[in-house]
Amino acid sequence: MAEELLISTSNDKAERYKTLVPQIEALITGESDVVANLSNIAAALKQTMNFFWVGFYLVKENQLVLGPFQGPIACTRINLGKGVCGTSWKEGKTIVVPNVDEFPGHIACSSASKSEIVLPAFKNGAVALVLDVDSDQLNDFDEVDAKALEQVMRIIERFI
Ligand code: SME
Repeated sequence: MAEELLISTSNDKAERYKTLVPQIEALITGESDVVANLSNIAAALKQTMNFFWVGFYLVKENQLVLGPFQGPIACTRINLGKGVCGTSWKEGKTIVVPNVDEFPGHIACSSASKSEIVLPAFKNGAVALVLDVDSDQLNDFDEVDAKALEQVMRIIERFI
């Protein structure tokens, strides 16, 4: 794996993602441990994109359970269909929430969180985990984030 992350200083987030995605590929190359890889991916996303909170919830039996993350402490368990994470799990799709106060059933782990994006990763056709990213700014996520983070989810699907 790479020993140091080269972080783009560009103000353009598409540019920063462009530098990051190949480095995430390099980070997981030769390592098969799921917790180790998810931990480094959460750290790489936090370092490069400076997200307020970024982490994983893993499907365990009939719930999402908190996995590797970077940021303030968070809720540990989420049920199917609940909150943004449980909805992404249930529907198997990316969900962008411009204003969390307007998302019915949003689970507020931190009152500082204002907007959010959640993306699923699949194993054998079923959602195995979700990536959750929170911002302390309203309307912070768009198609650029969705497309780049979907690339990250496809990389994750290689080792889960
Ligand atoms: N807001 C999420 C819960 C997880 S925390 O944001 C880390 C949700 O509504 O599912």
